[in-house]
Amino acid sequence: EQVIALSLVCTHLGCTVTVTPEGLVCPCHGSRFDRQGKVLTGPAERPLPSLMVETEGDLLVVRG
Ligand code: FES
Repeated sequence: EQVIALSLVCTHLGCTVTVTPEGLVCPCHGSRFDRQGKVLTGPAERPLPSLMVETEGDLLVVRG
């Protein structure tokens, strides 16, 4: 019912966060984020930024 797009650039030092069934995990230093981008475990202190999502006909378009 709701679509959320998140940047996968870790807010700690910029590694690419991996999407797993358990959540979003940074492979570099172990930060973990929930599916809304909120920090669950540091060292990251800031949430993953959300990106704008728009509908265009049948498409969802992510505006980064
Ligand atoms: Fe992601 Fe350090 S770059 S935890």
